[in-house]
Amino acid sequence: MTVAAASSQEILKPHLSIDGSSRLSGVLRVSGAKNSALVLMTASLLTEETVEISNIPNLTDIAGMKAILESLGVEVTRRGDRISLTAANLSSSQPPYELVNSLRASFFSIGPLLGRLGYARVPLPGGCRIGARPVVEHIRGLKSLGAIVNVDQGLVTASLPGGMRRLKGTEIVLDCPSVGATETILMATVLAEGKSTIENAAKEPEVQDLANLLNLMGAKISGAGNSTITIEGVERLHGCRDYSVIPDRIEAGTFLMAAAITRSTLKVKPVVPEHLSSVLQKLRDCGCDLNIDDDGITITPGDLRAVDVTTQPFPGFPTDLQAPFMSLMAIAKGTSVISEKIYENRMQHVAELQRMGASIRLEGSTAIVEGVPSLCGAPVTGSDLRASAAMVLAGLSAQGNTKVCGLKHLDRGYDDIEAKLLGVGARIERYSN
Ligand code: UD1
Repeated sequence: MTVAAASSQEILKPHLSIDGSSRLSGVLRVSGAKNSALVLMTASLLTEETVEISNIPNLTDIAGMKAILESLGVEVTRRGDRISLTAANLSSSQPPYELVNSLRASFFSIGPLLGRLGYARVPLPGGCRIGARPVVEHIRGLKSLGAIVNVDQGLVTASLPGGMRRLKGTEIVLDCPSVGATETILMATVLAEGKSTIENAAKEPEVQDLANLLNLMGAKISGAGNSTITIEGVERLHGCRDYSVIPDRIEAGTFLMAAAITRSTLKVKPVVPEHLSSVLQKLRDCGCDLNIDDDGITITPGDLRAVDVTTQPFPGFPTDLQAPFMSLMAIAKGTSVISEKIYENRMQHVAELQRMGASIRLEGSTAIVEGVPSLCGAPVTGSDLRASAAMVLAGLSAQGNTKVCGLKHLDRGYDDIEAKLLGVGARIERYSN
């Protein structure tokens, strides 16, 4: 294929066209947290009554979760950012492979299905581009609660032994603080008999959000947000009205980095600053001034300096912001060392940033980034959700035009990103064909 033919094919794919290096100004509004909303929707399986949740982002992943819950017999109604879920008559305990495969969080439904029905059969979610993503911790936790769990031909079947009516509370010690395992086990233990503890639990804000919703539904959970969570099992949960999802800390972090990379003063809101403390510290370290008020965060970037980052579980620097932060470091003064410690294959954005003129050397899961004065526009492809966001940021700062392909990833996790960026003065346009 000639170079000309290749580039015209590239342009025919759905893409965002970004004319970079314009200054942005105004307010960027943050939607509800994708990773919270997905798991809160799953929690509706735990009760026959209606669960109403607001601040649900408009994302393809949310549409996917809606389809999965509907396949199980949940009645789901969505109006604007509100969703109403009623799992009065569950018709299935087996979400279909095609849906689970494209949405990892749907595997977490095994916890509430088992807790509520005493039986669940959920396809293994499989790996993804960023790494292997096992679910052994989820399965080990369910087994400790007394469930019989078998993995056969890609299906995980979990059931209660004969004569057992409820799971039995116990102490569960996670080998690693997996977010999904903590959430799966939390949803299984709320209806278990007696007390459970989860040691080495994930402390992510999305785990706290889930515990808050479950407590509103009648669960007795304490300690979410710490590494030990205690759950007193209850006989049943009830519905709830108008639980609001926390703001998306990853979207907020991406927007703060969009301000920094375009050297623009922007307000980002709403934000819970404690959910982003390690990110805010890194932004300050690299020369940004942050003004935090009740309403959000106003960021005013100075001369950008290189800083090192290592991804860690919360409250450390989130792996989901590693790629966007690398775009920023690509134009900062000096050398930064960015180490990915959560996923083994989350450096695919490096090659794309190099195509835009970034100077990056990759050593395993560590990137050594030598800042350059500016990036140049190019056709690029985001290989996963956060890599796509990194490409958008790079495009906003680059000289000339950038075409960002791979929108199916971006649309999984960023609610109407081009409209939001257009609203603050970015020159960005979507081509859907
Ligand atoms: C969640 C987030 C994802 C984020 C990740 C880490 C959702 C829907 N997704 O994913 O955006 O990047 O947290 O913050 O909430 N691990 C094991 N064994 C297990 C489970 C996990 O070794 O049984 C390892 C994984 O390979 C990975 C690390 O633990 O290295 C973190 O994974 P985990 O916290 O489980 O991520 P998810 O819950 O899938």
